[in-house]
Amino acid sequence: MRIIAVANQKGGCGKTTTAINLSSCLALRGQKVLLIDFDPQSHATMGLNIECDPGKNIYHVIAPMQTEAVGLDDVIVPVKDNFDIAPSDTRLCAVEQELAFVDGREKRLLEAIERLKKSYDFIIIDCPPSIGHLCFNALRASSEAIIPIDMSLFSLRGIAKLTDMMVTIENATGHTITPRALVTMFDARTRYSQEVLGRVREKFEDKVFNAVIRYNIRLRETVDHGLPIGDYDKHAIGQKDYEALSEEVMGGKTAATEASAGAEEVSRTAREYLDTQEPIPMSDADSGPDTESVESFPYPAQSSYAAMIKAIAGGASPKWSDDSEEPDS
Ligand SMILES: Nc1ncnc2c1ncn2[C@@H]1O[C@H](COP(=O)(O)OP(=O)(O)OP(=O)(O)O)[C@@H](O)[C@H]1O
Ligand SMILES: [Mg+2]
Repeated sequence: MRIIAVANQKGGCGKTTTAINLSSCLALRGQKVLLIDFDPQSHATMGLNIECDPGKNIYHVIAPMQTEAVGLDDVIVPVKDNFDIAPSDTRLCAVEQELAFVDGREKRLLEAIERLKKSYDFIIIDCPPSIGHLCFNALRASSEAIIPIDMSLFSLRGIAKLTDMMVTIENATGHTITPRALVTMFDARTRYSQEVLGRVREKFEDKVFNAVIRYNIRLRETVDHGLPIGDYDKHAIGQKDYEALSEEVMGGKTAATEASAGAEEVSRTAREYLDTQEPIPMSDADSGPDTESVESFPYPAQSSYAAMIKAIAGGASPKWSDDSEEPDS
């Protein structure tokens, strides 16, 4: 079983769209897939038109103070053939506070997955746009991470911070995660997108998927219909792009396990990229669509980003230097 977190603290960069459509494409290829909606915004649950039981969902699996033990098997809802979801609702946001003083808070999801009776080929975890207990739990449970980048520097900053967190986890627990960036909302008509793609490929090499998710309005429309793109319009560009991604993910099994020290290398690369790149001049000819600004989710105020990670990791020292920064959303 492969467990893949789809994560980036940058909001609105295509995490949920990727989690839903990658899961759907893997299921179409005959893989048994569980999508865990690990975001209190519940966009994966809503995007698949799934009714979330307010008394039994992923919150009850993860929350520390439950009167009866709730396992993942108890909350799983079928989406379609080979494709199940563990839905979430807004109550999941309480977990950030509820786990704060609980022993073993960083591996609640890992333990829940270890207790899972149903078997899957893939578990895909849709993470919230934040760095906190939820994201930490998702990474601790995963051996791979897909980091969507929507061609913005904020997304690249998100990569740097997320991979720093992976390094922290590795130092604290010995658990390694193989990260790979995924370019999303790519608009081939703009010179800006072309430039960024070229630079990202040059810098990240095999740590970025060959598959690129192009900007496709159908991917927006599908959310209103509560369907994966392939069930809404199987000829859409978005479906073709996610098919290519699913093929690469399936074929990447060996590459993913062979890649070593991935997180540290990606973190270094992202920081080098941010430190050394000249801004890309905008051309008048650029007329591509703006990416939608997404309402950010309110996270508990943290006095220091580094201190928060340190507390979550149970004392491991964070490796980055800009410890005064707050997470983006
Ligand atoms: N390739 C694409 N082309 C066009 N629109 C897209 C594409 N990918 C995602 N979108 C749209 O962009 C918005 C943000 O996408 P999505 O919800 O997947 O991002 P996210 O990273 O999960 O956001 P959050 O950080 O809030 O969880 C949504 O309206 C979605 O439909
Ligand atoms: Mg999302």
